[in-house]
Amino acid sequence: MSVLPRIGVATPEQVADAGALTAEAYLADRLLDRDDEYEVELRDAERRAREATLLVASVPVDPAAPDGRHAVVGTITLAPYGSSYAEIAEPGELELRMLAVAPEARGAGVAEALVVAAQREAVVLGARRVVLSTLDSMRTAQRLYARLGFTPAAERDWAHEEIRLRVLTWTPPTAPGVLTEMACWPPLRVLTTRGGWRVGVSQGLTRRANSAVPLTEPADLAAAVAEVVAIYAAERQRPVLRLGGSDVDRRVGELLDAQDWVTASVTDVLVADLHAPVRTEPTAPAPPSLELAVHHVPDDAWLETYLGVKSASADREVARAILAGGTAQHVVARHAGAVVGVIRVAYEGDWAALSCLAVDPLARRAGIGRALTLHALALAREHGAARAFLQVEAHNVVAARLYARLGFRPADSYRYREPRVGALG
Ligand SMILES: CC(C)(COP(=O)(O)OP(=O)(O)OC[C@H]1O[C@@H](n2cnc3c(N)ncnc32)[C@H](O)[C@@H]1OP(=O)(O)O)[C@@H](O)C(=O)NCCC(=O)NCCS
Repeated sequence: MSVLPRIGVATPEQVADAGALTAEAYLADRLLDRDDEYEVELRDAERRAREATLLVASVPVDPAAPDGRHAVVGTITLAPYGSSYAEIAEPGELELRMLAVAPEARGAGVAEALVVAAQREAVVLGARRVVLSTLDSMRTAQRLYARLGFTPAAERDWAHEEIRLRVLTWTPPTAPGVLTEMACWPPLRVLTTRGGWRVGVSQGLTRRANSAVPLTEPADLAAAVAEVVAIYAAERQRPVLRLGGSDVDRRVGELLDAQDWVTASVTDVLVADLHAPVRTEPTAPAPPSLELAVHHVPDDAWLETYLGVKSASADREVARAILAGGTAQHVVARHAGAVVGVIRVAYEGDWAALSCLAVDPLARRAGIGRALTLHALALAREHGAARAFLQVEAHNVVAARLYARLGFRPADSYRYREPRVGALG
């Protein structure tokens, strides 16, 4: 598919389309008869949007105008335990229901994008498990669920009016946590506030190395935030706080809302089990004569390619100093003598951290990103790591799809908060 589907909570204009599409998709697969009462329920997306979370996938009507009008091509319903649409969810579980893709949009990864988005949402909501019921006849969906890490929970299978429903569950992987993340991408300097928060200072290169992390809950949150602001002011830097889903982070977030701080970006942490078999796409193009070289310290070619994609104006020596901290390998991909892509693997405990994946814009869509990621995973296995993680911005759908297909699953999510421009005077 040339344009990846856009996934989001259904807007009021999309709700009716999502309802019609669900019924049509079930009818097309002969999962219901025309006079089936369930058809009325499938069409009633208004109620799903009210009483659950209705996600929709949409694609541009004109593929040549990706920002133009979009049409709904798929939908899924997310029902937390206790909500009216949850049939089997137990406390702490999120239930997926009514996955449907328009018949004309099938085979292009729309259902995969919807289920991955639902897994991500489960992590953001702090759900401990995702559950769903399927019919034996839903073969395509079952293959998809298996590929995305769902496993049968036969003891929970159930029946409805003599129809046997199989239950599948998915448990989010354990996240590395902020301290492992920091060890794999160490700021040049880490200052500690009076309340025990860690403040990374690295001349502004990457928010990851230039943000404050609330590791404790001080009695006076406002004073702790003010201290972070003062530290960054002394460094002539904009203050940035990294906030995840913990109770402290939530309370800090409420305070920042009141102080008019904005969300600068949302990052997902994805995790892959390095002992699980890697599922490469049968359609994956083998990159022609790609040479991969590995260095412990990033050389100029590596830095130039990474910074060329990340931030051309960044200081190369600052980048070299950040990347040289910790144990890591830097992979350079060359094709016909020219550097076409890079990736980094850093190590901490049994974790491998993949980062800096960047492919020259002129060399994209030729399998180089996938080859670099697979090579990094192979290096991590060789190094003895048991699991890998990476951080990807929530809007980066291209990278997210690449990682999902290589076995990475959502494990955590955090946001960087900054004062609104001009708010600090
Ligand atoms: C993400 C990135 C590394 C991918 O590199 P690449 O060499 O183009 O990737 P590949 O050719 O190996 O493609 C991998 C998959 O993504 C798909 N893909 C790549 N670009 C795509 C696009 N613009 N639209 C739709 N699909 C795309 C490919 O089709 C392939 O999927 P499939 O074969 O399963 O269909 C590259 O786009 C890039 O450098 N982006 C900027 C930096 C970045 O986002 N890095 C990741 C930071 S976490």
